[in-house]
Parts: sequence; C-alpha cells; structure tokens
Amino acid sequence: MATPRVLQTNRLPASATAYLRAHAEVEVNESGDPLPPQELRRRAAAHDGVVCLLTDRFDAQLIGALPTGFKVIANVAVGYDNIDVAAASSRGIMVTNTPGVLTETTADLAWALLMAAARRLVEADRYVRAGRFRRWELMDFLGCDVHGATLGIIGMGRIGQAVARRARGFAMRLIYHNRRPLPAPLEQELAASYVPLETLLGEADFISLHVPLTPQTHHLIGMPELRRMKPTACLINTARGPVVDEAALVIALRDGCLGAAALDVYEREPALSPGLAELPQTVLLPHLGSASRRTRERMARMAAENCVAALRGERPPNLVNPEAFRG
Ligand code: DGY
Repeated sequence: MATPRVLQTNRLPASATAYLRAHAEVEVNESGDPLPPQELRRRAAAHDGVVCLLTDRFDAQLIGALPTGFKVIANVAVGYDNIDVAAASSRGIMVTNTPGVLTETTADLAWALLMAAARRLVEADRYVRAGRFRRWELMDFLGCDVHGATLGIIGMGRIGQAVARRARGFAMRLIYHNRRPLPAPLEQELAASYVPLETLLGEADFISLHVPLTPQTHHLIGMPELRRMKPTACLINTARGPVVDEAALVIALRDGCLGAAALDVYEREPALSPGLAELPQTVLLPHLGSASRRTRERMARMAAENCVAALRGERPPNLVNPEAFRG
C-alpha cells in the first residue's frame, strides 16, 4: 500500500508531527499563519488527509473540491463548527475532534475569567501599571462576591460539568440549562438544579456558556436574553463567539442591562465588535480556553492519532460522523 499523504495545516507540538511522520508523508505549513482558502484547497488536493485547526474553514465548496478517496479531516479542537460535517459525510470523508483532553483546562479558564470580572482584576492591574496606586482606598475597585453567589451554566456537557464542580469550593448556588436535564444522581453530585433558560437569566449572578455552536445556539444570547439578566450579572463565554450577539452585548453593557462580560471567543474572531474593547467592564482574552502546554500537546497528539487511524482504514477514536466510516 502506498504511504498515505497528510497535510498539516499549521505548526503543531513536535511529538504530534513526529507521530504523523512515522506513519505518513507529511507536508507542514510552517508559516504560522492559516493557509488562505485557495491555498488550503490547492494543497489539500494533493493529500489523503488533513490535520487542521479551528482557523481552517472546510466549507461545502472546499470539501466538494477534495479528491476522490480523501479520507479524513482531523480537527485539533473539540468544536468543529469550522467544518461542514454534512458535506464531509456526503463525500465519505471522516471528521474527528479532540474531546475530553481539554475539559479541565477550559473549565479552569472559565473560572479565571469569572474571578477576573468579579473582582475587576484587569482594570486594577492597568491602574497599578499606570503608576496610579498612591494609597489604599476603602471604596476603590469594589467588585462582586463570588462565594455564595448564584452560578448559571448554559450547556451541561463535559466542560459545563467541570465548571460546576469547581463552584463547590465557593459555596455557590448552582442552576443550569441544557437541552435535557442531567440524570438525577449527577444533578445531586453537582448540587445543580435544572431551570428554564429565562429563570437562569433572571437569577444568576454569573452566567457561563458551554454550548457548541450550531444553528440552534447561534445568538442564543441576544438582546432579549441580555435584558433579562440582573444589572450586576456577569456573562462568561469560553464556548464560541457567535453564541452571543456581540453588537447587542455592547449595547447592553453600555445601558447597564448587565454588569460585566468576560470573553475568550468572539463573533467574528479575531475581530471585536466596535465598542467592546473600550468598555472597562469587559475582560477579553484571545481564545485561550485550552491553552496549557500539556493540553495543547495532548490535543495535537489526539488529532494525529485520529488521522492515522482513519488513513489505515480503522475507525478513528473520536469520529464525529460515524456515517462516513466505511469499515
Ligand atoms: C476547542 O477545542 O474547540 C477550543 O475552542 C480550542 O481549544
């Protein structure tokens, strides 16, 4: 059998590239920049599979242009909204992702954002760096208590649950909304109560989003939802930017409909909606959810293993579209 050919669309930790090289002929885009769509299409056409990042868009057009026999798109991310899975399935191309390995790291970051927004860490840090800290002031930088507050989690999958577990240490009241309630023993273990979305929006002091981006979750949080929040509430988004109507969020923050927003992801990433960066009550990160060295290494290795399994004709461990597997 001929050695399979893999396109690695960007740099990966060395161990992942080495694994790919041990099993395939590998072309690596070493530039550090995502390949422009035309270039991605041109290069992918000469390969049997691709290991890609969430910044690579595999839309129906690009997938339609892949050669017959192209086997796998292995995404180095748990989310795969950058790939038109239906188009891939219709061409028998397997799509894989990297669930599990980034759960705890992403939950850590959601908490870092929550704490930063609650206690105004970014504003205060800027103040100190600007040389403005002259003396201790009783009424400066007053924030919100995290302990004893109500945490509302929207999306109770792996990451939502990991965020929920951390709430215990802060003696928080925990409410959540999900497509369906969790099994009762799990609810009990997490001390979490299922509530309708409207209730969650009206009662939570901190609202953390953990849903995948789908047509159903696009703009799940728009102006009507923002208006339901407490004027002191803080919205945390480590999921996907388009889950929130970002233009509405800017208006709502300006109008005082909610108190703060702590965001790791953006609607038109990496661009920010006009006005967002000027608002002092925002904490803005560059999509760092899974960005610990160990987790990113594990994600890359997992994607490489998914890719190699598919090229060998095996069912990859993290197959998103089983209908594309012709075992
Ligand atoms: C993912 O995996 O989907 C994150 O957004 C990046 O880690």
